[in-house]
Amino acid sequence: MNLDKENLLYRGKAKDVYQTNHPQQVMVKFRDDITAGDGAKKEVMGMKGYYNSLISAKLFMLLEDAGIKTQYIDLPEPGFMLSHKLDMIPLEVITRNIAAGSLLRRFPFQEGQTFNPPIIQMDFKNDEYHDPMLNDDIIHALGIASNQDLEIIRKITMKINQVIKDFLESRGLLFPDFKIEFGRDYMGNIVLGDEISPDTCRFWDQKTRDIMDKDLFRKGESGVIEAYQKVTNIILDEKDKKRWNLDF
Ligand code: TMP
Ligand code: ASP
Repeated sequence: MNLDKENLLYRGKAKDVYQTNHPQQVMVKFRDDITAGDGAKKEVMGMKGYYNSLISAKLFMLLEDAGIKTQYIDLPEPGFMLSHKLDMIPLEVITRNIAAGSLLRRFPFQEGQTFNPPIIQMDFKNDEYHDPMLNDDIIHALGIASNQDLEIIRKITMKINQVIKDFLESRGLLFPDFKIEFGRDYMGNIVLGDEISPDTCRFWDQKTRDIMDKDLFRKGESGVIEAYQKVTNIILDEKDKKRWNLDF
């Protein structure tokens, strides 16, 4: 893979994006850097990029099968995702099925309370401003998205939630909440980008409610990478493991 420095388009906190020879395709490299607090807490955790790329690829494929457009083209090897090039929309679209995390710090919800219908929250993706929560008027005033765009984003997000939640529950996992990001492809279509992984979701064991995601790192607990591997094992089928030559 030709991942030369001169082809680096963007370096985020956990992923690098490289231009490929095809103008509308990029290669996303999932790095092992793990951060919290807008990058204030930072470590390198071997294999994190590997597991996150596998989990994201599997979930993107699941969504594609359900008719949802994603950036995913192929995972030629774990850690590297060939993706459609997107002009990213600076929104963190958060969906909440169960009250957890910052929602409990900011509002008088009960821990573990379920939301039906789920809550969709839009934050401004901007570390400098610490990702503040937005409303539609602020999104319009910032020129981030139109009413029509937001309607599409909410509709796709609800469907993504349903598809992934049903899949995870069938494998013994709860899906309390998750964050996704969208971009526009060269045709202007709104397409799911970024990743769906334990870095960007909460995954809990259905029976024990054990945490199996980045909250372990945020809380300073051990077993982070073991949890990521466990999630990979639960989510991937034997056929996926064969396809990517995995030996766990
Ligand atoms: P929160 O409860 O901390 O607001 O997080 C909600 C969801 O969003 C959770 O699944 C983790 C994810 N998330 C990110 O992907 N990036 C972030 O920067 C934050 C704060 C949360
Ligand atoms: N994504 C943020 C960071 O990397 C915060 C978080 O995920 O908790 O710093």
